[in-house]
Formats: sequence, structure tokens, C-alpha cells
Amino acid sequence: MIGGGYVGLVSGACFASLGVEVCVVERDPERLALLRAGRVPIYEPGLDQLMETNVAAGRLRFTDDLAAAVRGVEAAFIAVGTPTRRGDGHADVSYVNEAAEQVARALTGYAVIVTKSTVPVGTGRRIAEIVQHACPGLAFDVASNPEFLREGSAIGDFMRPDRIVIGAESERAREVMRRLYRPLYLIEAPILFTAIETAELIKYAANSFLAMKVTFINEMADLCEKVGADVHDVARGIGLDGRIGRKFLHPGPGFGGSCFPKDTLALARIAQDWGAPSRLVETTVAVNEARKAAMAARVVAACGGSARGKTIAVLGLTFKPETDDMRDASSLPIISRLVEEGATIRAFDPKGMAAARPLLPAAVLYCRDARDALDGAHAMVLVTEWNEFRALSPAELAAALLDRVVVDLRNVFDPLAMRQAGLRYFPVGRPAPRQARG
Ligand SMILES: NC(=O)c1ccc[n+]([C@@H]2O[C@H](COP(=O)([O-])OP(=O)(O)OC[C@H]3O[C@@H](n4cnc5c(N)ncnc54)[C@H](O)[C@@H]3O)[C@@H](O)[C@H]2O)c1
Repeated sequence: MIGGGYVGLVSGACFASLGVEVCVVERDPERLALLRAGRVPIYEPGLDQLMETNVAAGRLRFTDDLAAAVRGVEAAFIAVGTPTRRGDGHADVSYVNEAAEQVARALTGYAVIVTKSTVPVGTGRRIAEIVQHACPGLAFDVASNPEFLREGSAIGDFMRPDRIVIGAESERAREVMRRLYRPLYLIEAPILFTAIETAELIKYAANSFLAMKVTFINEMADLCEKVGADVHDVARGIGLDGRIGRKFLHPGPGFGGSCFPKDTLALARIAQDWGAPSRLVETTVAVNEARKAAMAARVVAACGGSARGKTIAVLGLTFKPETDDMRDASSLPIISRLVEEGATIRAFDPKGMAAARPLLPAAVLYCRDARDALDGAHAMVLVTEWNEFRALSPAELAAALLDRVVVDLRNVFDPLAMRQAGLRYFPVGRPAPRQARG
């Protein structure tokens, strides 16, 4: 498994628990030192336990010696990052290509080189060329096996996937992959064998479709606020239709994270490059960017039109709960803008504060817990719906907040209870009932 990040570590530990002998290759010395010391460099529920068990059983090890790790393997998975390339929005596949070349130089016999990273259509073919060039005469196959796990529930997602997608062209490659995934196939996870290009596109199409769904309900939330409708009821009313489905219809501050922003952008670029532009995906990217930028203004408006001199408690920094991942989190533009507007920020996140610190303005104050963040604050903004924040009662919020303002960007609180406690409560897409208005 080349790359010991969210995907490489989870996939590596899960394959090991299925009885496969796994070596994770990680080139970042700090990350590797932690792994070798039995520590997990990321926060993912259950991963520490799973890694510990499999390391102890001798099925999972960590190294920076790619050549030694790859010698004699049946499959080499590439699970390195594919971030947005600076300047043009394309996915940067340089880490993938580099890893493929390193693998090719180290292989001594037949193996399947598998991309687990999310890669643009055509990358599998390009990898085959790189390998042929680096090691002429080597017997190998290339396969695409995109990963669909969600941070925060990654182990469950890997072990009980909705589907396993494998793009491969030879029966030999399909057989290696079939054997690796056999325990999951036995519990009836559907395996979809496709061409390599198809597998590559499925991953981008899946993420872009989900991002579009989130963006759609966010737009409906804006409309609800104008017309006096409740977006929760709209989501339920449409989601109960089996053709639509209830998931990913939660309004919020715009999608962030390590995948949706970069994958929607990359799919838009791929589609343009191939002369089949996707206006839907392009618009999703633009609408989401605008939404993230607009969230700070929503807070300023809730504070009465100016944040100058206000102390604002920000609860939740990560792009979603149950992860420490801060990549493209909505909290980043919100907080930066509020600081520019003259607010003092008292922030708290259960797992994300270490990763957030280098990304946020130096003036941000980091707090011990949610109640500490509320101390002396005029207003509170809930950005990420960690479960522990749900325990804050309307009465204690009303007692703690000097201006009694709560901006709930995830709709975790009960609007009626909040308003009854005397709070000025601003959820997303849930306006106060008409008869109760000013
Ligand atoms: N994070 C997710 O939820 C998720 C889900 C599905 C798919 N993906 C995709 O999986 C890929 C990896 O994502 P991630 O979040 O795990 O990234 P990450 O940045 O957390 O991890 C990548 C790791 O690879 C290491 N690395 C890079 N080049 C290397 C090399 N040549 N040899 C050894 N190690 C190397 C880096 O040091 C880093 O630790 C991306 O393409 C991403 O789009 C991610």
C-alpha cells in the first residue's frame, strides 16, 4: 500500500484484518515514526485498535523502503494524494506517476498495479506506459479500484461497502483482485468489473453527484428562507421518494473536505478537456464556492450588521464530525473573514485544532471545550455538528451568550426551544413561523 494517509492506512489495516499480508509505504518521516511507534497519525474511529491488532498478528507493517516492500507482491496499491493542481483545477497526478515509476523499478515479477487514489480518466493507461518505460519486459497489469470510504466511518465503509468497483483488462488481474476482496464478496458486497476508464470515471461521477445533491438542498434552503418554508420538511418530502433518497439532503455551510471540492473541480476540467463539458458540475463548484464565502456575512448579519468588537464562539472546525481533517473546511473562510471584520474568535473542535492552527489567522483563540469557547462570547456559530455540541441546552446558551445570538449552520438545535429560551436563533433554511414574526 503506497501512501499511509486516510485511505492507505484504512485500506491497509482492513485488508490485513481480512488475512492479507500488508506493508504500508509512507515517505513522510514524521508520519512513519508515529506509525512505527504504534501511534495513528490521523483521527479515524476504530483505526488505532484495528492497526494494533494486525501489527501484533504480523500482518501489517510500515516502511519507507518502497523497493523492499514491493518485491514479490501480488498487488501494489497506490493510495497517495491527488490534490488540485495549482492554477488550473486539474487533479495533480504527479505523486501517482512517481509512485508508479518507483513500483515499476522495484518489481521483479508479475504484479497488479492498482490505483486506489482518485485519478483522472486516462491515468491507468498512462501508468501502464510509465511502467513499460521504466521496466521494459516486466509482466504486469494495471487496475483501477477507486475507494468510496467516508472519513469518520471509514472502517465500516471499507468492510461493508455498497459496492466494490474494479477496472481491469486481463482475467489474471481480475483474479488477483477477486481473491483480495473475496471475504467481502462472501458477505455479498457487489463487485463491479469494468474497463479501467469506466472505474476511474465512476469515482468522480459518484462524488460529483453527491456534491450536487448537497448543493441542491443548500439552494432550496436559501429559497425556504425567502418564502417561509422549512427545508427539513422539504428534504423529507422529496427524500421519501425512493428515486431521490433521503441521504445527502442536509443543508449546511457548503461542502468541504479532502474529496468533494477537488473532485468536482477535476471532473469539470476532465469533461472540458474531452469536449463534453458538464455544466451541472461546473455550476455546483461555483455555487458551493459562493455559499462558503457567504456564510461569514450570515454571521455578521446575525450579529446586527457588524462583527467589530464582538467575541464569537466557533464550535467545530473540521469539514465534518469524527475526523481531524481540515482540508477545504468551511470554517476556514468563515473564521478568516470574521477576523478581518474585527471579531475575536474563541474556537473549539474535539479533534481538529492541531490541524486547524496553521491554516487559521494567528489571532484565533483555541479553547478547552465548548463551554470554554462560550465564555465571554456575544454569539455562537456552530460550524461542524460534533455530537457533543448537541448536549448544549438552550438555557445555558442563553445564559452564556452576551448577545444571545446562535448561528446554527448544521441545524442541530430545536428552533422552537431555542427561541423560547430567548435566543436569537439562525438555523439554515428554517425561518421562524410567519405568525411569530416581528
Ligand atoms: N480521504 C478520503 O476520505 C478519501 C476517500 C476516497 C478516496 N480518496 C482518494 O485517495 C487518495 C489519497 O487520499 P488521502 O486522503 O489518503 O491522502 P493523504 O494526503 O492523507 O495521504 C497520502 C499519503 O501518501 C504519502 N505519499 C505520497 N507519495 C508517496 C510515495 N511515493 N511513497 C510513499 N508515500 C507517499 C504522503 O506522505 C501521505 O501520507 C486521494 O486520491 C483521494 O482523493 C480519499
